[in-house]
Amino acid sequence: MKDYSIIEKIQNIYYPQTQYFGSKEKLGSFIIENINRYIGLHKIRTVFDAFCGSAYVGYIFKVLGKRVIGNDYLKFNYHIAKSLLENNSVRMSEADIERLFNLNKKRKDFLEKNYSNLFYTKKECQTLDNFRCNIDEMKGIKKSLAFAIMIKVLINMIPFGKYNYTTAISYRNSKFKSYIKFFDIKDKFTEYAKLWNGAICDNGKNNKAYCLSTTDLVENIKADLIYIDPPYAGTDFQDYYRYYHFLETFVNYPKSSIFIKKTKEIPREKSKFSVNEKEEILIQFRILFERAKHIPYWVLSHNTNGYPAVADFKKLIREIDNERDVRIIERAYTYKSGYKRKTSYEYLLISTKHNGNGHN
Ligand SMILES: C[S@@+](CC[C@H](N)C(=O)[O-])C[C@H]1O[C@@H](n2cnc3c(N)ncnc32)[C@H](O)[C@@H]1O
Repeated sequence: MKDYSIIEKIQNIYYPQTQYFGSKEKLGSFIIENINRYIGLHKIRTVFDAFCGSAYVGYIFKVLGKRVIGNDYLKFNYHIAKSLLENNSVRMSEADIERLFNLNKKRKDFLEKNYSNLFYTKKECQTLDNFRCNIDEMKGIKKSLAFAIMIKVLINMIPFGKYNYTTAISYRNSKFKSYIKFFDIKDKFTEYAKLWNGAICDNGKNNKAYCLSTTDLVENIKADLIYIDPPYAGTDFQDYYRYYHFLETFVNYPKSSIFIKKTKEIPREKSKFSVNEKEEILIQFRILFERAKHIPYWVLSHNTNGYPAVADFKKLIREIDNERDVRIIERAYTYKSGYKRKTSYEYLLISTKHNGNGHN
């Protein structure tokens, strides 16, 4: 039986869409409804969103009154998680926006020098250099909020919302309407600040955001449920850094750097969940499951194209802990790939410990 009160609640959740690749924004009801059906939301007090990306799933749990811990190894996602999950009350005021766009004599020119006319124009890069300097005069959650809102602006400005190709500026200049992505950065930031401010909510819990590799963090996390939404290995999109490197550079703002590829990626170590060797991926999941043994409920999102196959996940979990039930729920899912719409299957794997009572 569907629980329509939960579905309605989730459909009415006010979340500032990030257009993040792999975001579960269209699958919120599917995820929560099945967790409620097979575990029971009432048994869950704390949720660990272990690969939180845009923080959407963590955010739903927050709105549902659960304590949420979000984690992503990319810094820009950490700021999104901090601004939406950890943040129970801080909003972006008009005065903050003025501060962020005021001309700062101390501004540097890292983006102007290295990225002019690659993804953004020279003038836009100058605005971003200046903004980036002002942001350092903010602290804590306000700083994360400023990053999060600007990240939404940046993703929105660039065709396809990604940084793995070099023709963004010519696309933006092209006559095709959908590519016309020129707007005033400050105006857009002000518009999105309103969206973000509307999403800030206080669930009365001490929510937290981290920026670590999940396998390094999980043992120290006290939670009733771990939500695992890793990069889908074996697909084109398993290496998030490759697609979003500019956002990471914007956040880290190095003094100087070497770059690789024409897209001016700054080299960094790959996530172990994004490497090409299947054996290494399996090892990482084994480590993750071993280290998550203390968390009674595990929920994993997966799809048809990802590695390992969902049945192999089930086998691996049973191998690690034969006291666990594993249930697989399937749902057809359509998504946009370039201009085309494709269908694949989204899976939810729910694993509960026999007699698992939660409340860890
Ligand atoms: C499929 S996305 C998650 C999407 C998210 N559930 C949402 O709704 O937006 C996978 C995420 O895992 C992150 N990631 C990759 N390797 C990681 C690691 N070792 N530790 C933590 N996060 C990692 C990526 O940066 C990416 O944001």
